[in-house]
Amino acid sequence: MPQLSADDAARLRDDLAGWTVDAVEAVVGDRAARALGREQITPALMAARDAGADRHALLTRLFVLGDVLSDADLSTALPALTADGAARTGLVAMTDGAGRALVQLSPHAAADGDVQVDWWVPSDPREAITGRAVQPDHVLGVGGASTMLASVTVRRPVGRVLDLGTGCGIQALHASLHADQVVATDISRRALAYARLSEAINRPALREAAWDMREGSLLEPVEGEAFDLIVSNPPFVITPPGAPRFEYRDGGLEGDAVVETLIREAGAHLHPGGIAQFLGNWEIRGDWTSRLETWLDASPVPLDAWVIQRDALDAAEYAETWLRDAGITPERDAERFRDAYETYLRAFDATGVEAIGFGAVLLRRPMHGSPTLRRLEEHEGALPSPLGPHLAASLDAHDWLAQTSDEALLDAALTVAPDVTKETYGRPLLVDPEHLLLRQGGALGRSIKADTALAGFVGACDGELTAGQIAHALAALLDVPAGTMVGGLVPAIRDLVRDGFLIR
Ligand SMILES: C[S@@+](CC[C@H](N)C(=O)[O-])C[C@H]1O[C@@H](n2cnc3c(N)ncnc32)[C@H](O)[C@@H]1O
Repeated sequence: MPQLSADDAARLRDDLAGWTVDAVEAVVGDRAARALGREQITPALMAARDAGADRHALLTRLFVLGDVLSDADLSTALPALTADGAARTGLVAMTDGAGRALVQLSPHAAADGDVQVDWWVPSDPREAITGRAVQPDHVLGVGGASTMLASVTVRRPVGRVLDLGTGCGIQALHASLHADQVVATDISRRALAYARLSEAINRPALREAAWDMREGSLLEPVEGEAFDLIVSNPPFVITPPGAPRFEYRDGGLEGDAVVETLIREAGAHLHPGGIAQFLGNWEIRGDWTSRLETWLDASPVPLDAWVIQRDALDAAEYAETWLRDAGITPERDAERFRDAYETYLRAFDATGVEAIGFGAVLLRRPMHGSPTLRRLEEHEGALPSPLGPHLAASLDAHDWLAQTSDEALLDAALTVAPDVTKETYGRPLLVDPEHLLLRQGGALGRSIKADTALAGFVGACDGELTAGQIAHALAALLDVPAGTMVGGLVPAIRDLVRDGFLIR
């Protein structure tokens, strides 16, 4: 594993300055950038090689595409660290006057408020570069799940954050922008070495956040400690006995027990008001929510819970996905692929697993009193990024609603959110539409069926009149008793406030 002194890290940083996500795209072009997203490196290699001695092109070839650089090109790419420094620190292996990177180093852009920060995230080179199936102790770079977790994380200034299963350290990097201390844990010593490298390279962009890295499984390394935020993109993949296992995706427990453990145990490690957010897979037999409800009920610390299931794959789809991820493909080894595929299907069939759900879990230890939130829902569509601000606003709205009587709600002047549109459906010849839909452009992109009264209510929410005044005016207009109108509207208004259609 590469080891960088503070001086070497500063030299490397000088060399990487300006080599950002945009710079890589500028070198390789749109077509190659899209191909990279499909794990195809050939178009990017062609473009970067064609760019000759351009420093960003050389860095892209070296650290993103795994290309071999001559000694002279290495010196151009790394003028401060130098080719010798890159070899001495273990970043590059030299053979016959040419060097190949031993780590993948990928630029990553994040938002710090309105300001963009650029990081470089080290990891093991991915399969597209090495051409070989990954090893069991492979340390992943930033992937789709990493960015999804980063996107959904509720980011508020906090004291202590736990990044469980830190890997390349990407969640810890994000947490550094709003935390005083980040405890980053991993069962893998190699992963922790990468996380240390991440910290060393990116230190000036991490504000003053202190990193504390600890080796150990799940919550063991933080026994007796509490946090304001726990984030984890854990090793949640469900691997049947006998199928190939990988440290980065299998937590060493059976079935979906990693997610169960986090749901049962995370609450005890949260300060009052603290939030835990993680991704996971869960086995589905019948209704997907019942298994998660059982785990939530088993937490010794009663918790608010919001689970968003993003996807559900049947056992065959799941097996194909994770066998491909492991580099076990019919093209490489047809017999091994068939055997492993059968192992998955037989194991799922034997335990009655009909499908495997994937989603994001948010747990919150109530600041005072008992939990008030238990929401398990499905959302398969695209999500805006970042989604965390919407989740935070929705939690705030939920808390306000929980302590607001119907009378107080009717006294509030509400405003329809700017991203809400009204859609009407019906046969062209009908004067009145058969269906009215209120649709959210941002957030979770929800749509709500509305009747004339509700659509009229939302249409009148301009922040001037109170909800009660609008409800009474509608009652008169539609010739409905005021009590009936108010009684019918209040539950719907609560839902609309909670989900961000209406703003206080
Ligand atoms: C999917 S990777 C996530 C890496 C990174 N946090 C991210 O968001 O991309 C899961 C990480 O969990 C680690 N891990 C595996 N089993 C673990 C366990 N039982 N306890 C803690 N970490 C574990 C792996 O080594 C790996 O670094």
